[in-house]
Amino acid sequence: MSGFSVSWLDLREPADHAARDQELASKLVRHLQADADISPIIVDLGSGTGSTLRALTALGAQRCVWRLVDHDPGLLNEALRRHGHSEIVEDYEADLNDVDALPLGGLTLLSASALFDLASTQLIDALVARVRRQSAVFYAALNYDGNTQWTPPHPLDDAVLKAFNQDQRRDKGLGAALGPEAAEYIKTTLETAGYTVYQAASPWQLGPDQHSLLAELIAGIRAAAGNGGTLSITELDQWQSFRVSHVNSGNAVIGHLDVLAFPPGA
Ligand SMILES: C[S@@+](CC[C@H](N)C(=O)[O-])C[C@H]1O[C@@H](n2cnc3c(N)ncnc32)[C@H](O)[C@@H]1O
Repeated sequence: MSGFSVSWLDLREPADHAARDQELASKLVRHLQADADISPIIVDLGSGTGSTLRALTALGAQRCVWRLVDHDPGLLNEALRRHGHSEIVEDYEADLNDVDALPLGGLTLLSASALFDLASTQLIDALVARVRRQSAVFYAALNYDGNTQWTPPHPLDDAVLKAFNQDQRRDKGLGAALGPEAAEYIKTTLETAGYTVYQAASPWQLGPDQHSLLAELIAGIRAAAGNGGTLSITELDQWQSFRVSHVNSGNAVIGHLDVLAFPPGA
């Protein structure tokens, strides 16, 4: 069980798609489509219901073979239901921790979205080593970067953010999580492996039109921030009720970073 429901992924997808850096994503799609005789093989890790497939297809990615990898069969089934008739989709129910068993043979691109802040340095190292051996492109979108700004402000915002960011490093099943350090770690690791790396900001910009997402996000942040024990229940309650009372009038900017990297000679 992954803890990521179809309804939660659907709720966040419009914000994710609006946030993805379009320049990096378009650069990637141009690269994938550069040779009309080649069908790029894309391995999307932690694919969920296929958000990366939808994002890149909307930008013109065609003739792709999509290998969607996730440990949640319900999410993979939903991806197949949505795209199995229109795209070439292969579903792989697998645990990302077993990097040697991942279906990376012949891949053109390793992609992931909203995933690698859950991952450990060991997992990134192992993935980059495998991808480098095959001279594949690496695209990691929507890695949480630790920055959050709320409007209007509340006196407990900084303390809640600190506790939340601390919780982001907790092991969520993929080793000690990189949390807000994920994008920088991926960038440095790929550069060390000889890749040319591009990084761009991809913040969620949430306003009253996304009040349902804001309410879910606030509940999730409160729960995570409560794990560390640095804030009292009363403080967490105060912060949450203030934030919920402003979902129809306030705003939030949640920082993410996208990383796109090309191997030598690409
Ligand atoms: C935040 S969701 C992102 C889903 C999708 N990439 C998107 O952008 O909507 C993280 C995904 O990683 C998957 N996942 C988490 N841990 C995993 C593991 N150990 N092995 C395989 N998949 C995993 C979850 O099932 C979930 O689909």
